[in-house]
Amino acid sequence: MIKTDNLVLRLFKPDDLSDVQTLLADPKVIEFSAIDPFSAEESLLWLSEQIDSYDGEDFKQAFAITLPETDKVIGYCCLEKMALGIIDDIEVSVVIASEYWNKGYATEAVTAVINYAFNQRGIRRLIAVVNKDNIVSQRLFKKIGFIEEELLTIEGIGVHSVMAVINQ
Ligand SMILES: CC(C)(COP(=O)(O)OP(=O)(O)OC[C@H]1O[C@@H](n2cnc3c(N)ncnc32)[C@H](O)[C@@H]1OP(=O)(O)O)[C@@H](O)C(=O)NCCC(=O)NCCS
Repeated sequence: MIKTDNLVLRLFKPDDLSDVQTLLADPKVIEFSAIDPFSAEESLLWLSEQIDSYDGEDFKQAFAITLPETDKVIGYCCLEKMALGIIDDIEVSVVIASEYWNKGYATEAVTAVINYAFNQRGIRRLIAVVNKDNIVSQRLFKKIGFIEEELLTIEGIGVHSVMAVINQ
């Protein structure tokens, strides 16, 4: 568990289903992904995969981003071995429910997860892969210290900026 000034980052649990369904059914949240808003069944599968991954062999650490007063899940931040199989790196990704945008929560969560990765997991370098049209997200990662290294065209979803941050 990671505590920040305003958030608690913890492992997902089955009780989170209703919050996860709200999050992943929101078209604004998945605007820059190649997928459609999730159905209730897809959200259930997604949540089960996150929970199952905690015992898996592949590196994956999905944190539910929650509000401390209510334990409500308002997003997630994930460390994962690059899914694309093109780059041999650990990727950090973040999603916040649109109702909670622009309150500094993504900045706070990603910063905390990077510190965890560097200081507790011994990871030296993290990348973020951000759709070039996703201006808010590019700004977020740049502000946190990520630097663009290359552009990557992902079939079906267009040009992405591959950004990296290194533990100095
Ligand atoms: C990208 C995302 C995670 C940002 O979450 P957030 O909690 O709103 O981000 P923060 O409040 O920490 O703000 C980060 C920056 O974006 C800006 N920002 C946030 N929402 C904005 C909006 N709707 N319009 C313009 N700027 C916005 C903030 O002002 C801040 O910039 P600043 O520090 O220069 O002022 C959120 O918009 C989201 O979940 N989007 C959909 C999923 C996604 O694109 N994830 C990233 C791919 S890994």
